[in-house]
Amino acid sequence: MEIIDKKEILQQKLALIRKQNKTIGFVPTMGALHPGHYALLQHAKTENDCLVCSIFVNPTQFNNPEDLKKYPRNTGKDIDFIKDICDFVFLPSEEEIYPDTPSENYDFACLDKVMEGAFRPGHFNGVAMVVKRLFDIISPNAAYFGKKDFQQTVIIRKLVQIHSLPIQIVLVDTVREADGLAFSSRNALLSETKRKQAPFIYQTMIKAKTYIQTKSPRDIEQWLHNQFAENKEFTLEYADIVDADSLLPVDNFNETQQAVLCIAAYLDKIRLIDNLELNKI
Ligand code: PAJ
Repeated sequence: MEIIDKKEILQQKLALIRKQNKTIGFVPTMGALHPGHYALLQHAKTENDCLVCSIFVNPTQFNNPEDLKKYPRNTGKDIDFIKDICDFVFLPSEEEIYPDTPSENYDFACLDKVMEGAFRPGHFNGVAMVVKRLFDIISPNAAYFGKKDFQQTVIIRKLVQIHSLPIQIVLVDTVREADGLAFSSRNALLSETKRKQAPFIYQTMIKAKTYIQTKSPRDIEQWLHNQFAENKEFTLEYADIVDADSLLPVDNFNETQQAVLCIAAYLDKIRLIDNLELNKI
């Protein structure tokens, strides 16, 4: 594995790989790596000859400066964790990615107006900015994203479509701890007591899924709001049942190929997100 911090160097190395007709798989991350990230790397490794992982805490996607400041960073541990699987780890500085003041302004229509987009203004514009810049540097054959950030996967697919990029976007299932909590870099910020309470989100989503034959999406959302209102540890931001492609509210489970329940909630000032695909029966 090679650690590279300059885009020109990485591009030279990848040009040699491409010359040998080898494929490049890419996994972008913000570090504080955990088994969820590792699953993406493993998936990419099986499908490509060369594996690139980037670690860059992207300032443009943080709408809250406090959140950016407390985002967990541990590059040494991260590198140790992935050194046996990656060919290249790209660790750019902020100047390397944003040599000029970034000014891209994406139009994602409805996709970035709901859920995360509504509660974190500018977040997806920042995600799109950095992912496009990383794609331009790396030009991978395929890039891997986790369903844990479901709305992000829809935005990335749209980004690729807007720019007609020849990059295959591969989605990987959410990896969870034994008690159901989705692995997340933010979990490290939870106290021991709060960590024990955190699986409530997944448990409640699983219970919600059992109602899809008997309740309407709106009624399930209402039920979810009641569950969270009764649990004083959590402050629910949203619990929305949306169509997996359009992210528009689902009024009736029979009218969608795939409905997804997406939740964001604060537990002790730590913002956790999760989602569950509610398959039609
Ligand atoms: P980050 O939160 O580090 O996540 C990097 C990738 O890992 C994302 O595709 C995310 O969905 C995936 N991931 C996180 N937790 C996961 C889990 N429990 N199971 C499966 N996959 C999981 O997402 C970002 O960084 C950034 O927005 C980024 C795309 C790198 C742009 O800055």
